[in-house]
Amino acid sequence: MRQRIITLANRLPVSISKRKGALTYLQSVGGLATGLSSLQDTHDLIWIGWPGYITDKANERQAIGEKLSTMNMNPLFLTSHEVEYFYEGFSNKTIWPLFHYFSQYAAYNPSFWRVYQKVNRYYAEETLKILKPGDLIWVHDYHLLLTPQLIRAQKPDAAIGFFLHIPFPSYEVFRTMPWRKELITGMLGADLIGFHTYDYVRHFISAAVRLTGLEQAITQLIFQDRIIQVDSFPMGIDFKKFAGAAKQKSVQREVNRMRSRMGGRKVILSIDRLDYSKGILQRLMAYQRFLTRFPQWHEKISLLMVVVPSRSQVDTYRHLRREVDEWVGRINGEFGRIGWSPIEYLYRSFAFDRLAALYQIADVCLVTPFRDGMNLVAKEYIATKENLRGLLVLSEMAGAAEELREAILINPNDVDNIAEALNMALKMPEEQQKERMSKMRQRLQRYDVFRWSNSFIQTLNEAGDVSNTIKKKEITEKERRRLIAEFNSSRNPIIFLDYDGTLRPFEDTPEKAFPDSELLQLLEKLPTRNRCRWVIISGRDHETLEHWFGKMPFYLIAEHGAWIKMRGQPWQIIEELDTSWKEEIGPVLEHFVVRTPGSMVEEKNYSLVWHYRKVDVGLADVRANELKSRLNNLAVQLNLQILQGHKVIEIKNAGVHKGRAASKVLNKIQHDFTLAIGDDWTDEYLFRALPDTAYTIKVGVQATAAKYCLKSVAEVRELLKDMLGLD
Ligand code: UDP
Ligand code: G6P
Repeated sequence: MRQRIITLANRLPVSISKRKGALTYLQSVGGLATGLSSLQDTHDLIWIGWPGYITDKANERQAIGEKLSTMNMNPLFLTSHEVEYFYEGFSNKTIWPLFHYFSQYAAYNPSFWRVYQKVNRYYAEETLKILKPGDLIWVHDYHLLLTPQLIRAQKPDAAIGFFLHIPFPSYEVFRTMPWRKELITGMLGADLIGFHTYDYVRHFISAAVRLTGLEQAITQLIFQDRIIQVDSFPMGIDFKKFAGAAKQKSVQREVNRMRSRMGGRKVILSIDRLDYSKGILQRLMAYQRFLTRFPQWHEKISLLMVVVPSRSQVDTYRHLRREVDEWVGRINGEFGRIGWSPIEYLYRSFAFDRLAALYQIADVCLVTPFRDGMNLVAKEYIATKENLRGLLVLSEMAGAAEELREAILINPNDVDNIAEALNMALKMPEEQQKERMSKMRQRLQRYDVFRWSNSFIQTLNEAGDVSNTIKKKEITEKERRRLIAEFNSSRNPIIFLDYDGTLRPFEDTPEKAFPDSELLQLLEKLPTRNRCRWVIISGRDHETLEHWFGKMPFYLIAEHGAWIKMRGQPWQIIEELDTSWKEEIGPVLEHFVVRTPGSMVEEKNYSLVWHYRKVDVGLADVRANELKSRLNNLAVQLNLQILQGHKVIEIKNAGVHKGRAASKVLNKIQHDFTLAIGDDWTDEYLFRALPDTAYTIKVGVQATAAKYCLKSVAEVRELLKDMLGLD
């Protein structure tokens, strides 16, 4: 059966208008619709979105609904109030400016926020109405940041992907948003979260870690017992369509018409929506500077500036329009002559043929956004230039700049730099133009928009597989009953229990995580089942274990296996270990403590531990990586191992680990039932060392060698109680 993809976006790929009393439907082929079209061979696509047409007439809504359902589109009608507060308001007066670093324009209006939540709920409800098992849900862009979590709350097993088409700002900017935690949590409802660039991924992860305290392993996040994949998927374009445009008759006609209109002059082209993020005014100032500094180009060039009307109900956009008009008038007035206007200003949008013709005739394409999630215009220009002639002058603040390194990259705030870049581009020899063009074209051809959508969907399916593999490890009621029955019928059971994160939740410092009264009560009851041997196997030092559990009839293993205490016997070192390495490593760690507020060093007999649970998350990551790379060489020379656990880096003699110590205990005592429970990376040694017949349980949802998973310390305690038949 074909998999269905339910695509949620603010706009449906159709625009509806009313002409002479009749509704007309114009299917639009924007980047997203084009990208998804290639999935149609293998999937059924269903859209949910706003048809862009406001009506509260029931018969009109019904007619639109019926018509759109034939195109697999489910319209979500909004009232004019909702359009004002959700689309113009929270989406375009709050999120858009903030995410583009225009925080001075961001309006924090609680009424906008309420309607934003409401409309996101509509989307979730509409999805749930049609969702079937096996469907994929793909949510798009900043209008719908809350929708993934709203769907997840109702359908915990749904496969949900989210893609943000605009930048995700640095945490320093994002944190100013009053509803920052709600927005992050909303996005974290997805299984896969995609961005155009790795910088946006970094910013998002940093915000998510800071705001929710979730666990992170490179690009995987663990939040509310789910694994969330975060990655970059730079959106491409329909390369073939643009590359083939030059050969189309309709495009050629347009090219000829435009060329004769430009009268042999060179053309600098710019195309964007009228948006303050696009740097249009700055571009005009740079062009003015260019005309002043390089008068040799007067009458030999024209700036063809296409500005597409956009969001005209929003004040900041309206003001901008006036300013652009004024600037164009000023420059044309200052430099223009009879028969030559330095700027040809077109305030309108074009369909494909004329757009492709514009790209075709342009000697230089000038793209200068202050911030832009990607910028497809830059890519389309490159793709259209089959003859390899032309140059792209591109802002380094556009997502596209990461892939288009052969463009002339400029800082959009530096008008002198842009003026020089224009002069350089206009003078660049053909050979160099071709070299730059062909490199960029190869890349765009390989990573086109079809590749983009396919790779997102493939990763979403794989993310589901990873989660399912881990979910499958969640111990079922049946397996749990079998474990308890085997335990009860065994004659010589042995049970290994890790301490921190398994029997006791973490605290911000290790001293605070002493055994609480509930745990002590439970531990006191464990030995009542006579023949069972209980082993507490921990990374803690042996003095601490002795202090807490020394009087109890347990086997104890300390410092990840360096020390062993058999029941009722004194502590023993697993083997005589040389610890002279501490003199060398100790000062390195102390140096890191001084440089990293909130961190500390713990000394155990056979190891040194750098704790960083209380360190600011960003700094913690940097320092932890720095410390590991600093220690790597020393570790080889001194025969040490470096273990990274939950917010700790532990350095100890090589060959000492929980698996080895556990094997030593198992060799000495008879056993016919083995269970091990642990939460940490260091417990993986233990799981691997045990025989295949052993029950091994990981605490937490993460890839593991253990056979089963439990979600929390509370669940571990429950299991132990059930094993002992306690209430
Ligand atoms: N576009 C268009 N007609 C126009 C001007 C632009 O169809 O007259 C299209 C252009 O081909 C591009 C999109 O609008 O695919 C603009 O995307 P971009 O990423 O550059 O900017 P955005 O508007 O998404 O911020
Ligand atoms: C950006 C956004 C899109 C949006 C487009 C046009 O590219 O990422 O989600 O559709 O601008 O803006 P509009 O407000 O007209 O939909």
